[in-house]
Amino acid sequence: MMSRKIVAALIGSWMALPVAALAQDQSVAEQLVNAMNKVFGVHPGFRANHAKGIVVEGRFNASPEAAGLSRAAQFSGAAIPVTVRFSDSTGVPDLPDGSDKANPHGMAVKFHLPDGSETDIVINSLKFFPVATGEEFRDLLLALADSPPNAAKPTKFEQFAANHPSVPAAFSTVATPDSFADEEYYGIDAFVFVNKAGEKQAVRYQMLPEKVVHLEKSDAAKQAPDFLMEELPQRLKQAPVTFHLKAQLAAADDPTKDPTKPWPENRKVVDLGVLTIDRTAENSAEDQKKLLFLPGQLTDGIEQSDDPLIDVRTAAYAVSFSRRNP
Ligand code: HEM
Repeated sequence: MMSRKIVAALIGSWMALPVAALAQDQSVAEQLVNAMNKVFGVHPGFRANHAKGIVVEGRFNASPEAAGLSRAAQFSGAAIPVTVRFSDSTGVPDLPDGSDKANPHGMAVKFHLPDGSETDIVINSLKFFPVATGEEFRDLLLALADSPPNAAKPTKFEQFAANHPSVPAAFSTVATPDSFADEEYYGIDAFVFVNKAGEKQAVRYQMLPEKVVHLEKSDAAKQAPDFLMEELPQRLKQAPVTFHLKAQLAAADDPTKDPTKPWPENRKVVDLGVLTIDRTAENSAEDQKKLLFLPGQLTDGIEQSDDPLIDVRTAAYAVSFSRRNP
């Protein structure tokens, strides 16, 4: 049974979520958050994953092509206010930004729609996910928790990775950026766009910066502990930061239910519009505590695919939210 607090978290964030689907993932979601706490420690008031972050604000302006693919309100062409949170991986709130463990970096976008509702995109700098299901991700985390530095070789995590080749493959796609603004972020999970004519198209999001700048590992390790959190506000004082939100379109046979399998690079990519970030939130540290971004918080014109990660992620984020706002 979903706890009352979690239901309140979900209702409080305005969404039309398939609550029955969430309830069924609830125990796995709890297990996932418990496993994250085991690996990263319990840090009251912070997210179980992506604990360290910064909140910024701006707007989204859709391209004319976007409305042809989806009737969602954020693609209508009107300027849509957005709240964005950039983050480091792990549940460790004081992790140095240049640590390898801070990869993949995250970007969560909340679109404030004209009717007062919200819809979210929660993406990161991995190009595809290391595992295909919530249960596998739980087992990956438990293997990590059982692999302290002094563990006998091969460690539990090394054994897990050897049995899941997508684990090392996925992590080899990430590097530390010189700025949150100079990173590309991927949706990984597939969603289904529905346009005004009712036509459906499976897509995966890409959020592409003006330029990608990655640091060498040795350079990343030398950076100040908060260099990413400090650089973005400085940059925004000089000029806005822009990204292009794009949709990679699935071909008829491309699998939508396996987030470990990227679609071929030659698939059509459509520019959905420009995300402009022009200011740091006045109370970023306070705001992020109350913010809840959910992969399953959709709006008319965007539906879930058969990707199993979406429901379990949404349920796990709600569990983490209810624990960080007791
Ligand atoms: C089974 C797979 C996954 C699980 C269990 C999981 C779990 C979580 C949890 C518990 C949080 C903290 C939520 C909160 O307290 O608000 C979180 C945050 C986050 N996750 Fe995931 N995650 C998964 C996969 C992914 C994937 C595939 C992506 C990117 C495509 C992603 C990107 C993020 C980002 C960007 C955040 C920070 C959101 C924010 O700023 O509020 N996660 N995740």
